[in-house]
Amino acid sequence: LRYAWHASGTYDRHTRTGGSNGGTMRFETERADPENAGFSKAHALAVKALFPALSMADIIILAGNVAIEHTGGPAVPFSYGRRDFGGCAASASMAEKESPTIDAMRGTFDRLGFDDKETVALIVLGHQYGRCHGDASGFEGAWREGLGYPSAYTHGVARGGYRLSPGVLAARNQRQYEMDFGGGEPFMMLVSDMCLWYDEEYRRHLLHYDSHRSEFRRDAALAWKKLTELGCAGTLVPERETKAA
Ligand code: HEM
Repeated sequence: LRYAWHASGTYDRHTRTGGSNGGTMRFETERADPENAGFSKAHALAVKALFPALSMADIIILAGNVAIEHTGGPAVPFSYGRRDFGGCAASASMAEKESPTIDAMRGTFDRLGFDDKETVALIVLGHQYGRCHGDASGFEGAWREGLGYPSAYTHGVARGGYRLSPGVLAARNQRQYEMDFGGGEPFMMLVSDMCLWYDEEYRRHLLHYDSHRSEFRRDAALAWKKLTELGCAGTLVPERETKAA
């Protein structure tokens, strides 16, 4: 899922460059970006899934869609037809900061063409899967899957029950947050998650989604589809049409 996000997140609406078309994550040049640390493992899995009908660019995105649906998330209609380019522009970078300021975060999503509400839907969607890896980002801990949509952290943050994770701060000098949610390990939150709480506009949408779960599922699916189709204008065919043909 994160691999698909970063494959798409290079898009720049001003220059109309980047995005998932091209499958440029196949190249070391792009995977070597610091924010892409750890993606060689995801890449190795994607290569195993290769079959002739789909480009690698399509498989990376399809894997993200399947991850969302398989874990009880909203269904995301898939469109295929992305091409695998023969090379990767040096400028194809997400330039994402792992602990962004609110302004930097808003800047990233504005470059992609998302408003605040879509941004909240996307981050809440993504940050309930998988985990952080000390050797990739310096953050530690797992999100918990299967707690329902939007995610547990929406719920917990809405109740104001978060705190700094003292262990991570001490060990790595990184700000990471956590909260308790129904027992077990504390639920992890990154600075990007906390931005959704600290900023008034983001918080408004966060709280709205917390009490409008079906709307969240719908919006998250739409935002994910939009994200993964950035830069793909004119190349994609909806999956359903193929089945009917
Ligand atoms: C400004 C926005 C964002 C920031 C700063 C951010 C930052 C991070 C960081 C630092 C990690 C830990 C990586 C590691 O240690 O391996 C992470 C993990 C993750 N992020 Fe985000 N993220 C953002 C938005 C998103 C979005 C929009 C999605 C998808 C919709 C997403 C999906 C994920 C997933 C699935 C993981 C877990 C990866 C794994 O298990 O290997 N993130 N994110």
